[in-house]
Amino acid sequence: MNLLTWEMKSHTKAKHVVLENYLKAWFPIMAHTFERIIYIDGFAGPGRYLKGEDGSPIKALKIALDIFKQHKVKLMKKDFIFVFIEEDKESYESLLNEIKKLALPDEFKVIPLNEKFDVAMEKILGNIKTSLAPTFTFIDPFGTKGVPFSISQKILSYNSCEVFFNFMSSGVIRSSSVTDHTELFGTEEWKEINDLEPSEKHYAFLDLYFKQLKTSAKVKFVRSFNVRNKKNATIFDLIYATNNKVGLEKMKAAMWAADPMGNYTFRDTTDKNQLVLFEDSPDLTPLKETLLHKFSKQSVQIQKIEEFVLFETPYLSTHIKTKTLVPLEKEKTITVNRPSGSRKGYVKGTIINFP
Ligand SMILES: C[S@@+](CC[C@H](N)C(=O)[O-])C[C@H]1O[C@@H](n2cnc3c(N)ncnc32)[C@H](O)[C@@H]1O
Repeated sequence: MNLLTWEMKSHTKAKHVVLENYLKAWFPIMAHTFERIIYIDGFAGPGRYLKGEDGSPIKALKIALDIFKQHKVKLMKKDFIFVFIEEDKESYESLLNEIKKLALPDEFKVIPLNEKFDVAMEKILGNIKTSLAPTFTFIDPFGTKGVPFSISQKILSYNSCEVFFNFMSSGVIRSSSVTDHTELFGTEEWKEINDLEPSEKHYAFLDLYFKQLKTSAKVKFVRSFNVRNKKNATIFDLIYATNNKVGLEKMKAAMWAADPMGNYTFRDTTDKNQLVLFEDSPDLTPLKETLLHKFSKQSVQIQKIEEFVLFETPYLSTHIKTKTLVPLEKEKTITVNRPSGSRKGYVKGTIINFP
């Protein structure tokens, strides 16, 4: 199958918006911090859709190029490595053609590979002598075949390496051609949940994948972003895994900034007991309740609340102060001890007393 014959669907746009939002933050932070950074698109596609929209590799190159131009003096002589893996010959040729149209600086090294993702990645990972440079890996298959958990596990064993995986749970649930998911999950435990109802199976499979990331790959932070159609059926879940606190913050912001488009809704599904719909003006009652419950009868520094919200909830730091703590303080549910010199707001050192 070839993307050249495809019209870009709006759910693909949703995926691209999150990717773009994130890369606009990831490239500058990583490029300024490290001498070499790597971007891998494991299922790259032909680089262009039917109506001329950029495919994910071209989007990534253009974003990196913009950032490079803006900060040329500081970024000159650094290495920006792009690995694009595409199995289909025609799509691969098309991608090469699209890359040629871009005027890329010498600092950009593009490595296109006409291979299967797992085969190419085994070679790349097998050739590492010391450590893998900070790498963002986008894994965007059609289904769930050919995406062994062991690859993500190896990537994530290196510091500053991240995985962003389009987990086609519908493929796992409905596929009749792929009946063995041991490679995908890196465990046989999927068999224990295979007979559940489809709706329960979705979360059970996601939970198992998270568990594998947290326990086998020992990843610190995992979040998932769920895209549903008008009938409320899941189309895909984007799973993000990282050990980097700043990465987590930027990816959550990237997900919230993906405006709901047309017939699709987006929500955080990292914790099935804490599903949060991404909206412009979200209902923050669950965040209030979570904070009141978590910190019940405690006096807590604002920094601790911010870390908890970042690590343990779908919410952003921008949801904490004006939208949550101010109303709680006004209604006298919480009281606040501010450091001397501070009369309002919640500057560093502020202590919140929870009932
Ligand atoms: C969902 S599309 C990728 C879309 C692209 N990431 C984008 O956003 O523009 C999946 C692509 O993976 C390719 N593909 C399928 N199986 C593959 C495999 N095992 N390894 C590498 N590429 C594969 C397909 O030919 C197709 O172009």
